[in-house]
Amino acid sequence: MPKKSRLYFLITLLGCLLLGGQSAFARDVVLANNQILLTPNHGDDGSAWGQTECISCHVKRNIHNTEAGKPIRDIVLETGYDSCTGCHGQNGTSAKRECVICHNADLLPKNPIMQNKKNHNFSVNKDNALTDQNCLDCHDRSDMDGDFEAHVDLTHYPAQSGIDMPYRNQTEFCLRCHNQDQQQPGFEMQPRFLRDPLVMMAKNYRYIDKHGYPKGSGQRTYAGLRDSDYQYGTLVECTDCHAMHGTHNAKLIMDRSDTGAFLLNPELREQPVFIDVEKGNYAQHCVVCHESEVPVEKTDEDTGNGLSGVHQVSGSCLDCHVHGMAVQTGL
Ligand code: HEC
Ligand code: HEC
Ligand code: HEC
Ligand code: HEC
Ligand code: HEC
Ligand code: HEC
Ligand code: HEC
Ligand code: HEC
Repeated sequence: MPKKSRLYFLITLLGCLLLGGQSAFARDVVLANNQILLTPNHGDDGSAWGQTECISCHVKRNIHNTEAGKPIRDIVLETGYDSCTGCHGQNGTSAKRECVICHNADLLPKNPIMQNKKNHNFSVNKDNALTDQNCLDCHDRSDMDGDFEAHVDLTHYPAQSGIDMPYRNQTEFCLRCHNQDQQQPGFEMQPRFLRDPLVMMAKNYRYIDKHGYPKGSGQRTYAGLRDSDYQYGTLVECTDCHAMHGTHNAKLIMDRSDTGAFLLNPELREQPVFIDVEKGNYAQHCVVCHESEVPVEKTDEDTGNGLSGVHQVSGSCLDCHVHGMAVQTGL
C-alpha cells in the first residue's frame, strides 16, 4: 500500500472505530438506482477500492439499517463477510462472488426454487447444480431488492447492433444468446438438428406456435384461456414455460406452476399445479394456461394433474406443435 493511502486507511479505520462503522468521512451513500456495485470511488475518493477485507472498515451490525437494507439485513448478519462481494462486486480485486451461500434450500428456499436437478447450467447434456458463476452469467448486477426487473437483474448482453439495449422483457435477454447470427462469446451453440430451437429462437419467435411475438386470435377450435392475466395478445415469455433454476422435465419445461406461468391466477399458481412431461406429451403443461371454452375432442378430460381443457390429451403433441410452427400445421 502506498504511504498516503495507508495513512488514509488508518484515519478511516479510526473513524470507523470511533463512530461505530459510520465513517468520519461519511458522504451521502444513498444507493438508489441499483448502484450497489462498488466503484473506484469507494471510500472517499477511492481509498477503499482494491481492498479485500471489508471487516477492517465496516461493522456488520451497523450497516443495512435503512428501509432498502431491511430485506437483506438479517441474512447478511448470518452469512457474514463472505457474502459482501456477492452483492457489492469485487471492489477492484479478484475476490470470489458467492451467491449460493444465500440462495440455497435452507436460507432462501423460494428465491429461487431450485430443488430439482435439471437447470440452465449452459449445457444440455449435464445436470450439474448451478454454480456461483452460472448465477453471474445471468445476474451480474442484481440489486436484491425483492423485485425482479429484467434490465436491472439480468446480465447485459449486447444486442444485434452491438449496443447495450435495455431489455423490455425477459425474452429479449434469452434471444441475445439463442439466435443464429450473433451469439455471445463463450456461449456459442451448435445446432443439433435442422431448425434446432437452441439457435433458431429469434426466428421461431416470429411464429405463434410455442408462442412468439404474433398475437393469437382466440378464435380457434379449442380456444380459451384459464382465468388469469393471460389473454389473447399477451406476450408469453420464455420463462413462462422454461424454468431456469430447477425442474425434473427435459428441455427445462417447468415441473410446477410456481416456477413459471407468472401471470396465472396466484391462488392456482402457488398451489402449485404439478407438471410431468413424457414422450412429447405436453398436455399437463399447456393446460396450466389453456382451457378450451367448448368441449371438443375430449377437452374435458383430466390431463392427470387435476386440470382439463386441452385437446388430444394422450399422445405426442410434437407432430403439430413445436417452436416456430404456424398453428394450422397438422390439420
Ligand atoms: C479502508 C476502509 C474500507 C474498506 C477495507 C472497505 N470499505 Fe466500504 N467504505 C469505506 C468508506 C470510508 C465508505 C464511505 C461511506 C461510509 O461508510 O459512510 C465506504 C462505503 C461503502 C459502501 C457504500 C457505497 C459507496 O461506494 O460509498 C459499500 C457498499 C461498501 N463500502 C462496501 C464495502 C465492501 C463490500 C468492502 C469489502 C470488499 C469494503 N466496503 C471495504 C471504507 C472501506
Ligand atoms: C444481499 C445483498 C447484499 C449483501 C450480501 C451485502 N450488502 Fe451491503 N448493501 C446492499 C444494499 C441493497 C444496500 C443499499 C441499502 C440502502 O440503499 O440503504 C447496501 C448498502 C451497504 C452500505 C452503505 C449503506 C449502509 O448501510 O451503511 C455498506 C457500507 C455496505 N452495504 C456494506 C456491506 C458489507 C461490508 C457487506 C458484507 C458484510 C455487505 N454490505 C453485504 C446489499 C448487500
Ligand atoms: C439462464 C439464466 C439464469 C441463470 C443461470 C440463473 N438465473 Fe435466476 N433468473 C433468471 C431469469 C430469466 C429470472 C426471471 C424469471 C424467473 O423468476 O424464473 C430469474 C429469477 C431469479 C430470482 C428471482 C425470482 C425468484 O424465483 O425468486 C432469483 C432470486 C434468482 N433468479 C437467483 C438466481 C441464482 C442464485 C442463480 C444461480 C444459482 C440463478 N438465478 C441462475 C435467469 C437465470
Ligand atoms: C447475503 C445473502 C445474499 C447473497 C450473497 C446474494 N443474494 Fe441475491 N438476494 C438475497 C435476498 C435476501 C434477496 C431478496 C429476496 C426477496 O426479498 O424476495 C435476493 C434477491 C436476488 C434476486 C432477485 C431480484 C431482486 O432484485 O430481488 C436475484 C436475481 C439475486 N438475488 C441474485 C443473486 C446473485 C447472482 C448473487 C451472487 C452474485 C446473489 N444474489 C447473492 C440474498 C443474497
Ligand atoms: C449467455 C447466453 C445464454 C442466455 C442469456 C440464455 N441461454 Fe439458454 N442456453 C445457452 C447455452 C450455451 C445452452 C447450452 C447449449 C448446449 O449445450 O449446446 C443453453 C441451453 C438452453 C436450453 C436447453 C437446456 C436443456 O437442458 O435442454 C433452453 C431450454 C434454454 N437455454 C432456454 C433459455 C431461456 C428461456 C433463456 C432466457 C431466460 C436463456 N436460455 C438464456 C446460452 C444462453
Ligand atoms: C404460460 C401460459 C401458457 C402456456 C403454458 C401455454 N400457452 Fe399457449 N397461449 C398462451 C397465451 C397467453 C396465448 C395467447 C398469446 C398471443 O395472443 O400471442 C396462447 C396462444 C396459443 C396458441 C395460438 C392461439 C391463437 O388463437 O392463435 C396456440 C396454438 C397455443 N397457445 C398452444 C399452446 C401449446 C401447444 C402449449 C403447450 C406446449 C401452450 N400453448 C402452453 C399461454 C400459454
Ligand atoms: C394433429 C395435429 C395436432 C396434435 C397432435 C395436437 N394439436 Fe393442438 N392444435 C392443433 C391445431 C391445428 C390447433 C389450432 C386449431 C385451429 O386452428 O382451430 C391446435 C391448437 C391447440 C391449442 C391452442 C388453443 C387456443 O388457444 O386456440 C392448444 C393449447 C393445443 N392445441 C394443445 C395441444 C396439446 C397439449 C397436444 C398434445 C397433447 C396437442 N395440442 C396435439 C393441432 C394439433
Ligand atoms: C408456451 C411454452 C413455451 C414458451 C413460451 C417457450 N418455449 Fe421453448 N419449448 C417449449 C416446448 C414445449 C419445447 C419442446 C418442444 C419443441 O421443441 O418445440 C421447447 C423447446 C425449446 C428448446 C429446445 C430444448 C432442447 O433441449 O431441445 C429451446 C432451446 C427453447 N425451447 C428455448 C426457448 C426460448 C429461448 C424461448 C423464448 C424466446 C422459448 N423457448 C419459449 C415451450 C415453450
